[in-house]
Amino acid sequence: MTLFDVYPLQPLTITRGLGSRVWDDKGQEYLDMYGGHAVISIGHSHPHWVARIEEQLKKLAFYSNSVHLPLQKELAEKLGVVSGKHDYRLFLCNSGAEANENALKLASFHTGRSKVLAFTKGFHGRTSLAVAVTDNPAIQAPVNATDNVIFAPFNDIAALEEAFRDHTFAAVIVEGIQGIGGIHVASDVFLQKIRSLCDATDTVFVADSVQCGYGRSGQFFAHDRAGVQADIYTTAKGMGNGFPVAGVLIAPNFEAKHGMLGTTFGGNPLACAAALAVLEVMENEDLIGNVQKVGNYLKTELARFPQITALRGEGLMIGFEVAPEHAQVRKNLLFEQHVFTGEAKGGVVRLLPSMALSQEDATEFLEKLEKAFHQS
Ligand SMILES: Cc1ncc(COP(=O)(O)O)c(C=O)c1O
Repeated sequence: MTLFDVYPLQPLTITRGLGSRVWDDKGQEYLDMYGGHAVISIGHSHPHWVARIEEQLKKLAFYSNSVHLPLQKELAEKLGVVSGKHDYRLFLCNSGAEANENALKLASFHTGRSKVLAFTKGFHGRTSLAVAVTDNPAIQAPVNATDNVIFAPFNDIAALEEAFRDHTFAAVIVEGIQGIGGIHVASDVFLQKIRSLCDATDTVFVADSVQCGYGRSGQFFAHDRAGVQADIYTTAKGMGNGFPVAGVLIAPNFEAKHGMLGTTFGGNPLACAAALAVLEVMENEDLIGNVQKVGNYLKTELARFPQITALRGEGLMIGFEVAPEHAQVRKNLLFEQHVFTGEAKGGVVRLLPSMALSQEDATEFLEKLEKAFHQS
């Protein structure tokens, strides 16, 4: 058997990681400013995370959701404390798409309605409902086609009001900072308007925090900055620091019924141990404070580069555009300077490093970026 070839791959084989560094099979070290696509939140192979998983592995790796699994309750309590969403309930699953799928299903069960409002350039995953609310026809199969989804322009208050005038929705789904769409930050007034329109029409506000959440923006949830609460938050990427785990945080007014949602692997003991280790390290090492400090430093310094034509983002979720003559800069960073970065729509360079990125690592990145620009 061979692999189903769906990923355009870099000609690189990564075999080891520690903190904000990874190494290839030839022993070459790389600075990881991409965090394996915003997944590495506390740093590659953090010793506390490794120990927590190892310890759990020796006790119990898996049992199904037909019995009490105390680690799930421990995780829900800890997540309530660290995120500040104390009175929300947690449904555990395995990926970002699955979290959004369950959030939208729940909104539809709760309201008895079927339409969803989503936004241009948004990305919410590849399963059926998640891809239907994703603004990218190229990844939607004919079976995903539906009249239940309305797209409105992102950050456009008048278009938002018009959508609510013309339709009755079960849910609105919105990223606090669009990731794959090119690091576009939802404005405070836009998020506040979504909240007030949802309140006026009993619509469910779903905050997709799969990429921008879990501290990456310098707030636990990027949407928090606007001073509004969503009804449902979805989380995944950084939640397990690479161990597959995702969550749906659900406001107190939603009624749970047995059998309404479910999963085989979601909330398994190993995933809970990994997710607890992440929250413990976030607290013990004040990683949200570090995101604010190092993120501000990076953004201030990046603003000085004449080659950068646009700079956006918050905390350690930063995107920048470069003048056309510097289009090779990502390639130079990877192959000449040995720095991983991400890419987003429109050739945007995306920085999504570990939240434990040090000031020294950030300085090293800036020096290497300077050199990469001079190689283009
Ligand atoms: C904002 C957002 N939502 C959902 C997803 C889907 O997550 P997953 O790939 O874990 O299904 C992603 C993945 O990149 C994402 O960026």
